[in-house]
Amino acid sequence: MDGSQPDLAGRRVLVPGGTGGVGEGIVRRYLAAGADVVVPTRAEARAAEFRQLLGDAASPRLHLVVHDYTTFASAERLAGEMERLLGGIDDVAAPIGGFWAGRRLWEVTEADWQAAFTGLATAHMAVLRAALPRLNRDGAYHLIIGGSAFTPVPGSGLVSMEQAALLMMQRVLAAELADTKRVFALVLGPVNTRQAEAADSDWVTAEQVGAVAVAASLATAGGEEIRLLSQADVPAALARLASGESQAGTAFHNLNR
Ligand SMILES: NC(=O)c1ccc[n+]([C@@H]2O[C@H](COP(=O)([O-])OP(=O)(O)OC[C@H]3O[C@@H](n4cnc5c(N)ncnc54)[C@H](OP(=O)(O)O)[C@@H]3O)[C@@H](O)[C@H]2O)c1
Repeated sequence: MDGSQPDLAGRRVLVPGGTGGVGEGIVRRYLAAGADVVVPTRAEARAAEFRQLLGDAASPRLHLVVHDYTTFASAERLAGEMERLLGGIDDVAAPIGGFWAGRRLWEVTEADWQAAFTGLATAHMAVLRAALPRLNRDGAYHLIIGGSAFTPVPGSGLVSMEQAALLMMQRVLAAELADTKRVFALVLGPVNTRQAEAADSDWVTAEQVGAVAVAASLATAGGEEIRLLSQADVPAALARLASGESQAGTAFHNLNR
């Protein structure tokens, strides 16, 4: 690895949801930084598709496993397996779940509610409670969230409600953990992913999200909300993380905007 690249060699990183559009950029950047990256996926076909998509980037340090992580029990088994096979967990980045739209809140069905709110919130909770207690002190946990956590989108309210719950999850954790472990919320605007149709040039890219997650893992302090709503936010976030100025409990976005 050349000296200009961030170096996370030896770090063991869990990326549930890593097969998705945002997850791909995160996986690529942790692999490029030299980390061992565990990507669990719920489907065999998705694993094969993802490996093909990564091509040469799918180095031996990519551990692509078919393993559920969406229930408390299955996430606990996954974290235990990772500990047994790799010796521990250093970092987690969780870009779990995608978009949902179609109904106003009073039209939502129970199936919508279970899929877009309960199911996704449960998956995040399951991974968090399995992985956070095992996380090494130098590592970091990244919740990947959308700006819909604070901007209501008509017809897509379940996404806003679930993302708002995740944003509060980060805030509660920051208060509960004090300085003992670092949990970041990367709050994204629209992202230029492989699935994005007609992406705007001002959108952040999935790899830029990955670069910020890697930089936050490398930083020694922090554990805060980082808003990446448009291109301008990316260099500002990277510079701040590199300067080591971020601190647990700091409302990082207030310094940016
Ligand atoms: N894409 C954007 O423009 C954008 C913008 C702002 C915020 N975000 C946030 O970034 C995160 C990831 O978004 P994405 O666009 O990458 O989504 P995506 O392409 O749909 O990928 C999400 C991944 O989550 C996993 N997953 C686990 N449980 C799921 C469930 N019940 N439903 C759907 N997927 C599930 C899937 O992995 P397996 O099937 O392999 O297990 C899937 O690959 C989300 O929190 C989203 O809110 C995305």
